[in-house]
Amino acid sequence: MTTTSALTHLLKPMPPLEADTSIADVADRLLTPECKAFLSLPVVDGAGRPLGLISRYTLQDIFMMRFGRDLHGRKPVGEVMNAAPLVVSLETSLEEAAHTVTSQLHYPITEEFILVDAQGCYRGLGTVLDLLKAMEQRIAQRNAVLRKTLVDLKESQAQLVQSEKMASLGQMVAGVAHELNTPLGYVKNNVQLLRELKQPLLQLADTHGTLLDCLHAPDCDEARLSAALGEAIEAREQAAPELLKEDLQQLFGDTLYGLEQIGELVVGLKNFARLDRAMSEDIDLNDCVRSALVIARNNIKDKAEVISQLGDLPRIPCAPSQINQVLLNLFNNAAQAMEGFGRILVKTWADDGAVLISVQDSGKGMPPEVLAKIFDPFFTTKPVGQGTGLGLSISFKIIQDHGGSIRVASEPGRGTRFLIRLPRPQAPHLQESA
Ligand SMILES: Nc1ncnc2c1ncn2[C@@H]1O[C@H](COP(=O)(O)OP(=O)(O)O)[C@@H](O)[C@H]1O
Ligand SMILES: [Mg+2]
Repeated sequence: MTTTSALTHLLKPMPPLEADTSIADVADRLLTPECKAFLSLPVVDGAGRPLGLISRYTLQDIFMMRFGRDLHGRKPVGEVMNAAPLVVSLETSLEEAAHTVTSQLHYPITEEFILVDAQGCYRGLGTVLDLLKAMEQRIAQRNAVLRKTLVDLKESQAQLVQSEKMASLGQMVAGVAHELNTPLGYVKNNVQLLRELKQPLLQLADTHGTLLDCLHAPDCDEARLSAALGEAIEAREQAAPELLKEDLQQLFGDTLYGLEQIGELVVGLKNFARLDRAMSEDIDLNDCVRSALVIARNNIKDKAEVISQLGDLPRIPCAPSQINQVLLNLFNNAAQAMEGFGRILVKTWADDGAVLISVQDSGKGMPPEVLAKIFDPFFTTKPVGQGTGLGLSISFKIIQDHGGSIRVASEPGRGTRFLIRLPRPQAPHLQESA
């Protein structure tokens, strides 16, 4: 029978001795080339079951005695062997074998053990040294697998972060495109109207020019003058400059407002979409709140009214694009939690040690079993396509990397409040006393 056990290649076939082999014969055997590398020889019974091991040292002790060979040489080896040798079944795993052997070793490294098959019959000898080497190899292999798993895990984590970022970017771009469309639409209308209004004005300027030419020309006769006057009056009636003045003011005002709104969105988008993870030295978190609100406006406007109470904040070092991502997720979550038209209260303030941002909504709130899991990756209660379940777990990591904390309180039916705390840099003397 062949065995595929991990111990098979530790097996050193060594012809065993019968228990009645004489000590002198054993000594001769130990001198043969095949036994030279071994410290001991196995002894088996008639059925091939191991009975013990006889070691070189035991034989040496016997032969060193005065008349040792003469007195003991003819005795059977069974009388002097170690009758309690280490026996390991080939069926056991490498780890199990290593455990058995190392826990029973008397002379580490130099000892040998007997390997038996499933029926308990002698198959060969193994050395502790080989066993340890095999274990070391196994550990090295496992380490390599673990290292690879770690690299894979890090990679997939980075991909997940990226995919949540892309998902929120996608939402954001759709929102901003929608927001841009409204002012763009009426700016375009207004410009078209202005182009139409321009025509009677040009006509008025034309007829007035002809009239003036007539008045200045010495040879202009009455008929030409009255025709020019008639045309000028007609053009003036057409253009109706008194009415036009008001219209134009309105049109230019609206157009300018639309352009400002577009400008504001573009600045918001530019501030927001800094995809780098770079830390900046002094960031006013109110700017982050404002630009995240601009970006989230389209998602919020039909769901809730936003009330901002932004206090004076000291500037702090942080990665604004990451904080924006956190805030956008909080605002979108709040909007998505609304059952009717609700309210989102955004507050910022600072205390001695930190800058705080609170985002409170009047949405449906969360029962304790949901609340317990919201920071777990992939936990979502939203239908496919609406939630990735990564927003809060990534937010948690971002705030943690900033040395801050994110806490939540929620009550079903009443709403939810998230509180973010980001540490203020401490003045050197304060740091020391702390
Ligand atoms: N303001 C909130 N009100 C009620 N439930 C919320 C709120 N914010 C988060 N949650 C719950 O936490 C879950 C996880 O949120 P998040 O990690 O942002 O993933 P996602 O929004 O993709 O579901 C949500 O699915 C929701 O059940
Ligand atoms: Mg979310």
